Amino acid sequence: MATQLQFLGHASFKIQSDYSSLVIDPFFTGNPYACCTVDDFIALDAMLLTHGHFDHLRDAVAIARQTECAVICNDKVAEYLKSQGVNPETITVMKSGESRNFLFGKVTVVPAVHTSSIQADGQELPDGDPCGYVIEVDKHKVYHAGDTMLFEGMKELRSMAIDIALLPIGGTYTMNADEAARAAEMIHPREVIPMHYNTFPNITADPQAFAKKVPADVAVVVLQSSEKETL
Ligand code: NI
Ligand code: MN
Repeated sequence: MATQLQFLGHASFKIQSDYSSLVIDPFFTGNPYACCTVDDFIALDAMLLTHGHFDHLRDAVAIARQTECAVICNDKVAEYLKSQGVNPETITVMKSGESRNFLFGKVTVVPAVHTSSIQADGQELPDGDPCGYVIEVDKHKVYHAGDTMLFEGMKELRSMAIDIALLPIGGTYTMNADEAARAAEMIHPREVIPMHYNTFPNITADPQAFAKKVPADVAVVVLQSSEKETL
């Protein structure tokens, strides 16, 4: 089996290789476009969390407790997860600029420009730095931007030769379609998959209109929740 990338709705993705599986920003409970539930995660190697907003963190505690997967996140999200009974030995705190090798592949943390807090159980706690990730699995490089505005430093991703960039296009909390098209130009991946749009009324965007704005030599693939792509 080749490595597959699956869109799980909103900003959540699963990467499954022959040897490992990982999930990014699990938000299924309360997500109108969720294609799976916490119960679908029985064996999972790793979970990467970009920040503490509920639409990224919602099902993280349940999945981490149930699978004992490795968790990669910032310092404040780590504290929160520990307070909720996640095994501290499974958690790796990473900061922007850091790279680390894990059994499933390599992770590099990239900054994200976003105001964050930890939103869980009706509480709001201070968050650490929100981030994005460059995830290298089986020689495929995937950039998950997290929630971010367009920023100058995205240009530096160009030299990393990203295969697939997962970019938010919904606006309000993140880049809108125009800004994400600019990001695609700066990063210049082989392919872009839009995310973080149409889940809520205030992040409405048209992915086909976005696709027309992206430079012609960057492919745009619009995935519906649950759809998979072979890398
Ligand atoms: Ni956010
Ligand atoms: Mn968000």
